[in-house]
Amino acid sequence: MKHEFNSAMAFSKFYLQQNYSFEGEVAIDGTVGNGHDTEWLLHAVGTTGHVYGFDIQSDALEATRTRLGRPENLTLHQDGHENLMHYDFDKVACVLYNLGYLPRGDKSISTQGTTTIQSIQAASELLKVGGVIMILAYPGHDVGKEECEWVESHLADYDQRKFQAWKFTFLNQKNNPPLMYCLEKRRT
Ligand SMILES: C[S@@+](CC[C@H](N)C(=O)[O-])C[C@H]1O[C@@H](n2cnc3c(N)ncnc32)[C@H](O)[C@@H]1O
Repeated sequence: MKHEFNSAMAFSKFYLQQNYSFEGEVAIDGTVGNGHDTEWLLHAVGTTGHVYGFDIQSDALEATRTRLGRPENLTLHQDGHENLMHYDFDKVACVLYNLGYLPRGDKSISTQGTTTIQSIQAASELLKVGGVIMILAYPGHDVGKEECEWVESHLADYDQRKFQAWKFTFLNQKNNPPLMYCLEKRRT
């Protein structure tokens, strides 16, 4: 076996790395949290790219600043990702969402299906041709289960001539394994 994945996020990042080059591109982290995924995106876009991050919790953004400092090519917004459309971006190559609540944080501050799909819709309009949205979703709690249903039915509605949408999961993992959703803007 060439690669073994111990998490959905590890698989997702591998998929993105293998299929895309984000060097010099614009990327968005829709759920910054403690900044692990933001850090990965910063690495992927390199010093000539730019990463924009959103989170509603000031604690999350502070933790991310502590982790990453203040690189010039990182802009963090304390705002809901459902407000993406109110910001100015160049065409975006990658949008990443790691949904749910902060591990070891306040579980009541979780992403919600209705606002998540508003954000995905806005992100899909900002996406450059050949760009990608990756969404990690967690059906193991009530809000997350409902959110997966919202995301799934939203993604199923995109015109297949313009977008390709797929989902992946670990079939034999116990306790409601995470779902990975991907929306790719076709090079037609
Ligand atoms: C699973 S955590 C993200 C983990 C993070 N990507 C990391 O690398 O540590 C989910 C995050 O989504 C944030 N969140 C919840 N609702 C949000 C919203 N409407 N817009 C943006 N972020 C939101 C939470 O505050 C939480 O930090």
